[in-house]
Amino acid sequence: MKRFEGKIAIVTGSSRGLGKAIAFELASEGATLILHASKKSTESTKTFHQIKNISPNSELYFANFLNHDEIVAMMRLVQKKFRRVDILINNAGAIKRQTFLKMTDEEWDIVTKVNIYGTYFVTKLLLPSILKSTAGRIVNMSSICGLVGEYGLTGYCMSKAAIIGFTKALAKEIAKYNITVNAICPAFTDAGMANEIERNFLQQSIQSIPLKRVGKKEEVAKLVTFLCSEDAGYITGQAISINGGLI
Ligand SMILES: NC(=O)c1ccc[n+]([C@@H]2O[C@H](COP(=O)([O-])OP(=O)(O)OC[C@H]3O[C@@H](n4cnc5c(N)ncnc54)[C@H](OP(=O)(O)O)[C@@H]3O)[C@@H](O)[C@H]2O)c1
Repeated sequence: MKRFEGKIAIVTGSSRGLGKAIAFELASEGATLILHASKKSTESTKTFHQIKNISPNSELYFANFLNHDEIVAMMRLVQKKFRRVDILINNAGAIKRQTFLKMTDEEWDIVTKVNIYGTYFVTKLLLPSILKSTAGRIVNMSSICGLVGEYGLTGYCMSKAAIIGFTKALAKEIAKYNITVNAICPAFTDAGMANEIERNFLQQSIQSIPLKRVGKKEEVAKLVTFLCSEDAGYITGQAISINGGLI
């Protein structure tokens, strides 16, 4: 029997990047996937068809996290279709590279709204469905940036540090329902927003990584699925780094 047979898992921001890799890992281990993207796109449609091939009952929903009503509408549809949810991966994220002095209020707003409010509202609205699971799992995507800070990323770093505080507090509150809540903190990976990093900077950064390479998206996905598994039932309230030894 596959590890996630019979489980329903939602991965926000699963149209591409790390979210897509996590969705694949969960689906290939038997989970039914609730995929999410901010909007309909070629990428989200392609991912949906690929996931459907391995997990036929999976669904795709859209909600722009900058719009509260869209999150509410999406969660209503999810709750109408699925009686319970076992696994929530709060993965959707936005980044704006700009020094604090130059960053506009609008850029700050996008990063905090998608990363913090998105995680808050999705979790808040979905928790009644997760409470119906006998062993719920929540994994929140933080980042090394939330632990150590990074030049030109004040808003992003603030949002990723907030995710860690949220994770630790929520874990304490809902442990009594046998729901675990953990955060993971990747550093450089071969996927998603990391591909936008300037090449020279990335090469220099790799030299300071003890394992001398970036992380693979599959490695991140396997860490997330481990935290969602039965074997990780005693791990909660943690912020787990996956960074090649960088810090
Ligand atoms: N990649 C890395 O190396 C790395 C390292 C550390 C942490 N992380 C974290 O891991 C997570 C995934 O990162 P990634 O690099 O895979 O990201 P990505 O490839 O840029 O994908 C971002 C995902 O979030 C969704 N999203 C973006 N803006 C949104 C909005 N306004 N409303 C709703 N959804 C929105 C996107 O949907 P659309 O396709 O519809 O735009 C997409 O599915 C993020 O939380 C990120 O901070 C990534």
